[in-house]
Amino acid sequence: MSLSKSEYNKSAYFYDEIMNSFKMDFSLYEDLIEIVKPQSILELGCGMGRLFPIFMKEAKEITGIDLSDELIDKGEKYFKLNNVNNAKIEFINTDMCSFKMNKKYDLIVFALSVLKHLKTDRDRLEALKNAKSHLNQEGFIVIDHTPFLYSSQSTDWIDVKNSLVVDWLPESIVIDGYQWKKSIEGDKDILLWRYNDSEKTHFEVKFTTYRYDIDNLIQHLSELDLNHELILTEWGVNGLSNKGKRFIGLASYPDNKYSPKHDLLERVIKRNERLWSDQDLYLENKGVA
Ligand SMILES: C[S@@+](CC[C@H](N)C(=O)[O-])C[C@H]1O[C@@H](n2cnc3c(N)ncnc32)[C@H](O)[C@@H]1O
Repeated sequence: MSLSKSEYNKSAYFYDEIMNSFKMDFSLYEDLIEIVKPQSILELGCGMGRLFPIFMKEAKEITGIDLSDELIDKGEKYFKLNNVNNAKIEFINTDMCSFKMNKKYDLIVFALSVLKHLKTDRDRLEALKNAKSHLNQEGFIVIDHTPFLYSSQSTDWIDVKNSLVVDWLPESIVIDGYQWKKSIEGDKDILLWRYNDSEKTHFEVKFTTYRYDIDNLIQHLSELDLNHELILTEWGVNGLSNKGKRFIGLASYPDNKYSPKHDLLERVIKRNERLWSDQDLYLENKGVA
């Protein structure tokens, strides 16, 4: 189905402005990078490089791998014009489960529950194994993961402006009319976004991801003989509770005894911000669940 010009504009705005402006995890990477000071960073499933401006504050070499040639193309164009620190930035259009490079990195990033985009345990294990084989001896793999996106229950259409997502976006982003909806079907965790105006839907997009439980992820890390350390279950000062349903943690080789956890938590407390919230509790509070 071809989109009308106005529909296309709504979807372009969604991809370019809304999705690419999510900032809820910025403080995690800002803090981590300031503490660990990685000189080289590899992001698996990097999209357009949303996190690269943060990586650039420390790293001289940044590699992003993504399956989508369109996102990579946009990222390459953007960073040709916006590489203020002259870091070496490379986008590679390939599969995180099977890529091979003759290079190792100080930090490897799995952001925004990217492992949920892989369909089977075998794929997830391969992606983690591949990360390990590109990790420097003293390096870390940072994993931000939640088994369900936004909510662990199916929902009806929810206005973005009345949902947790509003906390993830800068105030300058126009979100009126945009809505999201969750649908859980077996192991499929489907997220729909649309732009709805006076009951007419101008644009709708579907992201199918797959449930990947935290226990399963931890099991995979141990199968690969990687140590892991859980940093938080949510981010922001509210994350210091045990209510969260995220795994925000670091994996490393067993002989890497250094842990940045203490320094990271100190910074979280100082920031006193509220960017991550427990998704289901948030929905219940809004009377949606
Ligand atoms: C939710 S986006 C996250 C983008 C980015 N990590 C961020 O934090 O903004 C998930 C990305 O994973 C990519 N992806 C999905 N499966 C992949 C695979 N097997 N190999 C590489 N990239 C993949 C998608 O193309 C998409 O850009």
